[in-house]
Amino acid sequence: MTLKIAVVNGPNLDILGKREPKIYGATTLAEIEAWLRQEARSLSVELQFFQSNSEGSIIDYLHELEGVVQGLVINPAAFSHYSVAIRDALAFLSIPIVEVHLSNIYAREGFRHHSITSEVVTAQISGLGHRGYLLALEGLLALIESTPRTE
Ligand code: DQA
Repeated sequence: MTLKIAVVNGPNLDILGKREPKIYGATTLAEIEAWLRQEARSLSVELQFFQSNSEGSIIDYLHELEGVVQGLVINPAAFSHYSVAIRDALAFLSIPIVEVHLSNIYAREGFRHHSITSEVVTAQISGLGHRGYLLALEGLLALIESTPRTE
């Protein structure tokens, strides 16, 4: 069975490359997506991407993932710091989840130091730029492959 993994990006990540490049890098989201798709091919994984600036759309998308994908990579962006609704939607999912932040949120403004979504995910990667997405994917695969199936 080919594993399916969702990659979800939250608000303002659609303008990556133009947005504060010193913090977030010069790589666009489309470039990250193309690079990850290429890497996923050699890992025999199928990726589905989603980006939205809207909290409700992200929640609706997360609801659809249960029973459809085997893992989730998510950068909830600013929602990490305050969206109880996205946190609850993540807690609903029974699949492994890796939260990614391009920047090191712990080395930035105080309001970014706490991620409420990180409390309901499997792992977090923060500060490695776009490489974090691939490391998250590899981590998920290692985890899924080493977890015995229950059904
Ligand atoms: C971010 C960090 C958040 O604090 C910020 O609001 C973002 C991007 C990151 O990837 O470093 O939009 O999630």
